Amino acid sequence: MAESVLVVPGDGVGREVVPAAIEVLEAVADLEFVEADAGDRVKRETGEALPEETYELAAAADATLFGAAGETAADVVLPLREAVDSFANVRPVRAYPGVDALRPETDLAFVRENTEGVYAGIESEVTDGVTTLTRVVTEKASRRIAEFGFDYAADNGYDEVTVAHKANVMRATDGQFLDSVATVAEERAERSDANGASSDAARAAGADYESALMDALATDLVMRPEEYGVVICPNLAGDVLSDLAAGLVGGLGLLPSANVGAGNGLFEPVHGSAPDIAGEGVANPTATVLSAAMLLEHLDETAAAARVRTAVEGVLADGPRTPDLGGDASTTAVTDAIVARL
Ligand code: NAI
Ligand code: MG
Repeated sequence: MAESVLVVPGDGVGREVVPAAIEVLEAVADLEFVEADAGDRVKRETGEALPEETYELAAAADATLFGAAGETAADVVLPLREAVDSFANVRPVRAYPGVDALRPETDLAFVRENTEGVYAGIESEVTDGVTTLTRVVTEKASRRIAEFGFDYAADNGYDEVTVAHKANVMRATDGQFLDSVATVAEERAERSDANGASSDAARAAGADYESALMDALATDLVMRPEEYGVVICPNLAGDVLSDLAAGLVGGLGLLPSANVGAGNGLFEPVHGSAPDIAGEGVANPTATVLSAAMLLEHLDETAAAARVRTAVEGVLADGPRTPDLGGDASTTAVTDAIVARL
């Protein structure tokens, strides 16, 4: 039976890049698509940015492909990530041959904690002009994202694992995060020593681990991105640092993401609704098409995922390219070129 994929284009360029990614998916896999609504437009029509039905469909689907929401993004994306039971937001950042990148040697992946931190949404206005935010960091969630990050490094051939933190200032919360990740790193290194340091499996279990203050890390990522592999981040830091890293490789039009963990998964470009170019037919579909490749991988359609990546890399190398990458091609022209290579 074909696996079911919920499709939520959302707002702005989401409505242009998601149909592009579906065309690509249709060319390589037998999937059943169901479409649902979310975002600013639905909110204007119904008063609700994320209809209950969309939430339920995401929870039930084998995977969800999401485009972007506008001003309502937090009301849409955060609950959707929860609906699919995801705790890890994976954001690979790679430079591609043919694309003018500030740092062509970049090949890393952010593994961002998706359930806690300052994005847990516990905010209040204490009194007029005074607001607060409560940050939640638990040992359980911190260890879980650490294990995921080290596994991701081993599975994807990254030798370096870095944890981003600011435990010198946020001593309790980032202290908890840092200690948990460090403990997992130690446990895994011990396990790999016990297994004999020479075997590949042992090496993978004990990737080189370091911690980095996230402000200094921001500078170092720009100066020496080639020294990084997997970067495990608290929620907000992962959001900011991955957008920063997008600037090293050619922009947000290139960055895919996967929200995964225990459940079914939500796949989305890192970018938002891009109102400055929405409706012009020039949005770069690459980020969403690569998110669709991550979706295929999640559904164990590994060969199809590899075909999509190869086709995307070919088009990035030879063109056509959208304006964000210095070309003048439309979303449709780039999509057609990707599909033609499949
Ligand atoms: P954005 O990611 O939408 O755009 C930032 C810049 O990148 C813009 O110059 C845009 O033209 C460019 N860009 C983004 N995607 C592109 C693509 N596929 N091809 C070519 N260029 C692309 O971020 P911004 O402008 O900060 O936010 C716009 C709206 O999106 C806001 O309402 C924000 O709340 C929402 N947003 C939603 C997200 C989500 O749904 N996951 C994530 C980030 C922002
Ligand atoms: Mg963001």
